[in-house]
Amino acid sequence: MNKVTVSTPGKLMLFGEHAVVYGHPCIVTAVDQRIRLAAEVLDSPDFILEAGDVEVTNYTKQISELGQGDVPKGAQFVEIALKNIYEKFDLGEGLRITTASEFSSKFGFGSSSAITVCVVKALSELFDLKLDNKEIFDSAYKTVLDIQGKGSGFDVAAGIYGGCLYFVTGGKVIEPLIIKELPLIVGYSGVKADTVTLMNQVKAKASKYPEFIDVLYTEVSKLVEKAKSALLVNDLISFGELMNFNQGLLESMGVSIAKLSAMIYGARDEGAYGAKLSGAGGGDCMIAIAPKDKIAAVQQGITRSGGQVIEVQTNVEGVRIEK
Ligand code: PMV
Repeated sequence: MNKVTVSTPGKLMLFGEHAVVYGHPCIVTAVDQRIRLAAEVLDSPDFILEAGDVEVTNYTKQISELGQGDVPKGAQFVEIALKNIYEKFDLGEGLRITTASEFSSKFGFGSSSAITVCVVKALSELFDLKLDNKEIFDSAYKTVLDIQGKGSGFDVAAGIYGGCLYFVTGGKVIEPLIIKELPLIVGYSGVKADTVTLMNQVKAKASKYPEFIDVLYTEVSKLVEKAKSALLVNDLISFGELMNFNQGLLESMGVSIAKLSAMIYGARDEGAYGAKLSGAGGGDCMIAIAPKDKIAAVQQGITRSGGQVIEVQTNVEGVRIEK
């Protein structure tokens, strides 16, 4: 095989953000907005990248120089993922990579980790490395840590395994939650959040007030366990109510913003069982769960509060080879 196309879904954090960076569990779902990556083996020892979505065109480098010199932001995750695999398996051939995304990187659906998963899966297929899901996880997670310095890896796991996952830091536990559906309402705040900045803010708060932040993390953990049980028996009322508790704890960590909170109240006022921010906070998206007959009103509540409703399917298939 000298050519392959793979695709990886985006993700939304349901419960447990921030605490999951420090050894606690979270729940994440894969969403049906996917990143696609085509990889083709070349005769020359070059790496060529076309990633129009992130303004990288005809980016060319020698395979032996991967990771060296200036790497444009839009090429970072592809290049470092390649470097890690090439080094580990001592590969020599060149590669042309083309990427395209069904969603904007500004939503916080995890485009960087999804692209990293695509690279590892594509190389495993092209060079017959026979990597299983956990090996793909370990390789892609290493790349994310090489670039970001910190992160739990929940987004990498969602991209690989798909569905809904109960996940513990660094992939210590990756447990698929078998559920029928999760009708999630998603609102985009219009504010781009920087995950690493938010993680650093929470870390600084934890150094100053360890006794408070530790309590918050422990309470988040308990909520995650309860939310997992509720999800498994399709008890969306409790699932929503637990979301409200989680939002309160995220407010205490200081990661919500007025715009997100307004959208969350907009959703609750229209009859949502619950609503919370999703991800690092500081912007990106909020999520809500509502009874079927209130979904349209809840969407309007979010729009009225200045948010943009994004239609997504949750619980979708993980990374796959495209025909
Ligand atoms: O900003 P997002 O959607 O990538 O979510 C970050 C979630 C954190 O728990 C803050 C970080 C992590 O890696 O788990």
